[in-house]
Amino acid sequence: MSKVKAAVFASGTGSNFQAIMEANNLPCEISLLICDKPGAGVIEKAKNSDVPAFVFQPKEFTSKAEYEKHLVEKLREANVSWIFLAGYMRIVGPTLLTAFEGKIVNIHPSLLPDFPGKDAIGQAYHAGVKTTGVTVHFIDEGIDTGPIIAQETVEVQDDDTEETLKEKIQKVEHELYPKVIQQIVQTK
Ligand code: GRF
Repeated sequence: MSKVKAAVFASGTGSNFQAIMEANNLPCEISLLICDKPGAGVIEKAKNSDVPAFVFQPKEFTSKAEYEKHLVEKLREANVSWIFLAGYMRIVGPTLLTAFEGKIVNIHPSLLPDFPGKDAIGQAYHAGVKTTGVTVHFIDEGIDTGPIIAQETVEVQDDDTEETLKEKIQKVEHELYPKVIQQIVQTK
């Protein structure tokens, strides 16, 4: 039996994309990468994994709704049922949200609801918190809001720099995201 199909949306280096691709026993096939940044590192990673990468720039479309309508067509053509956001630096609008209701998941490098938005690791570091972490959640129309699926904590040690904290958080992300994907795809 063929596996359920999923797409990853990413705009950056793609370390989470890579971790998902390298996960054992993933219950879905990553059949598509959607990227809104030409030249992003994740595109090369998709090529190396033989995952087709579609690179779209919203500014090529007349509106956000038109951009997302085009994405929905691509996703439907590829038979995709799940979307995993992995560093997609854009707010998902109503067109995509409605088309994939309850099937869009995001990973965020903080313990939400603390430190939503950009540079969550820097925000937490400069706030001086002793504990931060990683959240995987379903998305809604807000910025890093939506029902939380899983969280894992990361302790900030006195000798941590922003860079070492980032490394620790990414290590947790790369283990947690594939694990959560496995659970939700199997149970939903
Ligand atoms: C990750 O920290 C993720 O939590 C956030 O964006 C970053 C993407 O990193 N949403 P990468 O491109 O997967 O390395």
